[in-house]
Amino acid sequence: MKPQQIFSIVEDDLQVLNKNLQSMVGARHPILSAASEHLFSAGGKRLRPALVLLVAESTSDQQLITASHKRLAEISEIIHTASLVHDDVIDECLTRRGVNTVHSLYNNKVAILAGDFLFAQSSWYLANLNNLHVVKTISKVITDFAEGEVRQGIIQFDCNMSMTEYIEKSFYKTASLIAASCQGSAMLSKLEFTLQNRYYSYGKHIGLAFQIIDDILDIIGSHHKLGKPVGSDLKNGNLTAPILFSLSDSPELLYIITNEFENDTDITKAIEIIYQSKGLTKAKDLAEEHIQAALTILPNKNQIPNNTSLHGLTMLGEYILNQI
Ligand code: IPE
Ligand code: IPE
Ligand code: MG
Ligand code: MG
Repeated sequence: MKPQQIFSIVEDDLQVLNKNLQSMVGARHPILSAASEHLFSAGGKRLRPALVLLVAESTSDQQLITASHKRLAEISEIIHTASLVHDDVIDECLTRRGVNTVHSLYNNKVAILAGDFLFAQSSWYLANLNNLHVVKTISKVITDFAEGEVRQGIIQFDCNMSMTEYIEKSFYKTASLIAASCQGSAMLSKLEFTLQNRYYSYGKHIGLAFQIIDDILDIIGSHHKLGKPVGSDLKNGNLTAPILFSLSDSPELLYIITNEFENDTDITKAIEIIYQSKGLTKAKDLAEEHIQAALTILPNKNQIPNNTSLHGLTMLGEYILNQI
């Protein structure tokens, strides 16, 4: 199985999800629904729903994915998309999923309202799952997202930032949703408590690796492939793993970033320095460590009924690393 084929294990359900997402966000106000639908129909990898569905399959005897699992998959994608709409306002990012971002098409006010609207819709569907444990787990994610963005916002261009702070911030911003989605799916399968927690840890490490790779792609990726601009982390002073690793080797990079790219050529210079340093390799190694940690904690085939989907969850690590 090739890494990208993991999505094919749950392909039929993802197709239904794509249709449902658009009807779920149908709003009374046409601008808000237009804004949300615009992003849903533009695609996206659907990583979070795929994870919910893979966990659901791997934890069920007859590969039975229940209506609640499917709803949770939709909720996770709605929360994710809401966070992107807000994140793009904060990062002043003009394209996403290959199309214009909501704030660039309309304005910041509409984007903030559209993001809030999506968060609110997700809460409504979450409450309707009628499972208090899942509600508690998933609702915490929305607070975590805000915490992550605030933490990131207050340390822009701060070269004293530690790797621990970077990892904590990435947990709040990205890994929390992925962890809670995996755990929530295991909860809906009524798995025993310790196994639910192992799915949470699996998702947390997968999420951290995913953010680290995204941060590498922000430096080396192509706009065409990613559907969003590259280089925006450096520009915004968002010091990610590859940048932090490079900083410890290069006083010149430290000078350029501390002075917030005062000359026009400074960003290009910074990218050159990062390429020449070991920053990118060290960041990839860090992502690999998290993938390894995720696979170690993932319940094994003796503890779980379904092997095919378990294989998908294992392959996801490779899929993430293969993006670069
Ligand atoms: C982008 O997430 C934001 C990060 C957490 C890195 P994705 O890369 O999953 O975005 P889509 O859903 O595929 O557009
Ligand atoms: C992820 O961080 C933000 C969210 C979790 C919404 P980034 O700011 O790196 O995400 P991209 O690169 O804009 O997709
Ligand atoms: Mg961003
Ligand atoms: Mg990014």
